[in-house]
Amino acid sequence: MNVLVTGGAGYIGSHACQRLLRSGHTVVALDNLVRGHREPMKLLGADDPSVPLTFVEGSVGDGGLVAGVLDEHAIDTVMHFAALAYVGESVTDPVRYYRENVRAGVALVDACVASPRVERFVFSSSCATYGDPPEGMVPVPETCPQTPTSPYGRTKLMMEHVLKDVAHACGLEGRAFRVAMLRYFNVAGSDRTGVLGEDHTPETHLIPVAIQAALGKRDHVSIFGTDYPTDDGTCVRDYVHVEDLIDAHVCALERVDPGVHAYNVGIGRGYSVREVLESVKRVSGVDIEIREGPRRAGDAVALYADPSRIHAELGWRASITGLDEIVRTAWAWMSANPDGYRGG
Ligand SMILES: NC(=O)c1ccc[n+]([C@@H]2O[C@H](COP(=O)([O-])OP(=O)(O)OC[C@H]3O[C@@H](n4cnc5c(N)ncnc54)[C@H](O)[C@@H]3O)[C@@H](O)[C@H]2O)c1
Repeated sequence: MNVLVTGGAGYIGSHACQRLLRSGHTVVALDNLVRGHREPMKLLGADDPSVPLTFVEGSVGDGGLVAGVLDEHAIDTVMHFAALAYVGESVTDPVRYYRENVRAGVALVDACVASPRVERFVFSSSCATYGDPPEGMVPVPETCPQTPTSPYGRTKLMMEHVLKDVAHACGLEGRAFRVAMLRYFNVAGSDRTGVLGEDHTPETHLIPVAIQAALGKRDHVSIFGTDYPTDDGTCVRDYVHVEDLIDAHVCALERVDPGVHAYNVGIGRGYSVREVLESVKRVSGVDIEIREGPRRAGDAVALYADPSRIHAELGWRASITGLDEIVRTAWAWMSANPDGYRGG
């Protein structure tokens, strides 16, 4: 396949590029580098003419640029990772989120539909589209009501609606447009060969934040709320290893039927904040300082996936479900690259 990977210079997108290259596909990564890094593109061989990876710097919202890329590289498949993805920032700067995630996303879809070769489209959606699931809906199935509690979650849900309508219209015209909307839970860990890693600035995800504390890059880690109705009083989340997540994309590319399909991608069980911090302590051997604080507005008590639909329909199941195993891959890259990609 000739695959366009938007957001290819970011954390998950770069892992997708690596996996697609290993499987023999030709890859074009499009990224405006607002949050991504040039370094993973170099590490994957974008500067080497013998490697079928091209890096294009630009926005998915630039319709002319995208149309040119689709045409020049005969793209038949699109993996759309590009987005702004901080819940808190989306609350304080919602217009930027609607502009980058929705307006630019629609421009990308528009160019894809105008290009007759594009047949498969995989979209990075999020469990944030579910908001706080009602009682009895955890583990969360795809049929859970989608009532996002942040502008970020709403931008992802809006793109789901856009894709549903576009796939429907393509079906009316007799065009086979295959769309998979993958609702990720918390993505964690890194490439097990140690080349790629997670480098967000600022970092807000719990595992890398705790590892930064173990590396002495922060003086403590805060727990927001210790009085939740869970076994140890802290919130519970589903952590899926990034390479398993990418495998789910590959299953979607290879097996999804024409039309639009939504799948949860998670391991199907939750780990509490305290369990994650204990795991980071075990793996790193460092006794990180933990400060307990009050609950944070908007945090759901427990959010973990019911991944049975993707297993039944696409045959995907997470291969790594142990927290220490996920944390070990993250620790390996971050301890070898304490300044992230900026450290070279
Ligand atoms: N990391 C997670 O746990 C998680 C969970 C659920 C969903 N997601 C979704 O997965 C996707 C990838 O997340 P990530 O963690 O790799 O984030 P990331 O910030 O590392 O990667 C996103 C990439 O998109 C690029 N980008 C942003 N706007 C762009 C635009 N208009 N045009 C071109 N490039 C643009 C950024 O520069 C960045 O490289 C996002 O869509 C995110 O919403 C991530």
